[in-house]
Amino acid sequence: MKNILITGGAGFIGSHVVRRFVTKYPDCTIINADALTYAGNLENLADIEHEKNYIFEKVDIKNQDHLAEVFDKHNITDVIHLAAESHVDRSILSPLDFVYTNVIGTVSLLEVAKKKWAGNYKDHLFYHISTDEVYGALGDTGLFTEETRYDPHSPYSASKAASDHFVRAYHDTYGIEVVVSNCSNNYGPYHFPEKLIPLMINNIINNKPLPVYGDGKYTRDWLYVKDHAIAIDLIFHEGKIGDTYNIGGFNEWKNIDLVLLLCQQMDQKLGREPGTSKELITYVKDRPGHDRRYAIDANKINKELGWAPSVTFEEGLSETIDWFLSNKTWLDNVTSGAYASYYDYQYNNE
Ligand code: NAD
Ligand code: TYD
Repeated sequence: MKNILITGGAGFIGSHVVRRFVTKYPDCTIINADALTYAGNLENLADIEHEKNYIFEKVDIKNQDHLAEVFDKHNITDVIHLAAESHVDRSILSPLDFVYTNVIGTVSLLEVAKKKWAGNYKDHLFYHISTDEVYGALGDTGLFTEETRYDPHSPYSASKAASDHFVRAYHDTYGIEVVVSNCSNNYGPYHFPEKLIPLMINNIINNKPLPVYGDGKYTRDWLYVKDHAIAIDLIFHEGKIGDTYNIGGFNEWKNIDLVLLLCQQMDQKLGREPGTSKELITYVKDRPGHDRRYAIDANKINKELGWAPSVTFEEGLSETIDWFLSNKTWLDNVTSGAYASYYDYQYNNE
């Protein structure tokens, strides 16, 4: 009987992980600890919030006293740590927020776990969710493996790299049992529309310009979020203590090709004349320090744990667009208020 603390469970990936664990493991209690920043949204979990084995706690992971209370109250046995500031463009605007949450927040959580689990680390797991961006940028060839040297370039990836190092340091120094996974770009339902795919979907729906940074030839390796949640479930249960697992989609796309595919699929779904939405594409000022290419070698998790992506990109994207089209209220709610001022600052401030 585990009591699993999932941090950041009201965010994009966290909500999929919470949903999977709550429904698949009725004998475990899932405690979702989330500060509900602009990116956290309890609507993401409306379908499971009344389940008996689900509990929400509004907690800022920087607050050790509050975390300690939550550990005691729910007798936390394991942690899956997803809470973070997660958007590169915002990290360029306010890097310190990323240091506070991603570095200090992670170390605060490690400190509380270290104290609460002292004496029996063998019975507990601290699973840290990270990103492929810690490895830096690739040229035209090559893949990130678990042995690739860290070389972060953005304040976001630098803060995630620091948090990964702290997690491993707590394993090496204090003996806490940890596992780390580094995943490529996710997409899917509940994705906050500051990121490329949901931003483009929202703008296509609203006939707004589609802002492509630089020459549009930057490359990302896209993974359907539900496949990431499956990988997290496997690593949580079967991952080797102290190890790192890279997770990726074997699915590289140049941004401009991806946006063209989105335009094509959405013209069809919205009943628009083929070629209509691509007229909205607008090349804009590049992101500073923009990493040219990310691509993951996911062979370790494939060979050791038997994981592979379950859907093709075309299928996943089509499901994602359908979800956004049938969840207009969700989209309207998250794009009202503070989103508009962020958008104006980010895209109309050249
Ligand atoms: P997200 O921005 O959608 O959600 C982050 C969640 O963390 C939100 O619910 C927010 O309220 C919460 N949070 C932020 N600061 C907090 C704090 N101080 N205390 C408690 N909660 C706080 O992020 P996401 O895209 O779901 O990413 C989740 C994790 O996965 C992050 O650690 C991210 O680095 C990692 N990751 C993301 C991707 C991706 O493509 N989105 C890829 C690889 C790894
Ligand atoms: P993003 O979704 O922010 O993820 P990340 O930077 O973490 O990979 O961006 C994905 C790619 O899309 C990246 O190369 C930047 C680019 N991009 C645009 O061209 N326009 C946009 O409006 C956004 C948000 C991203």
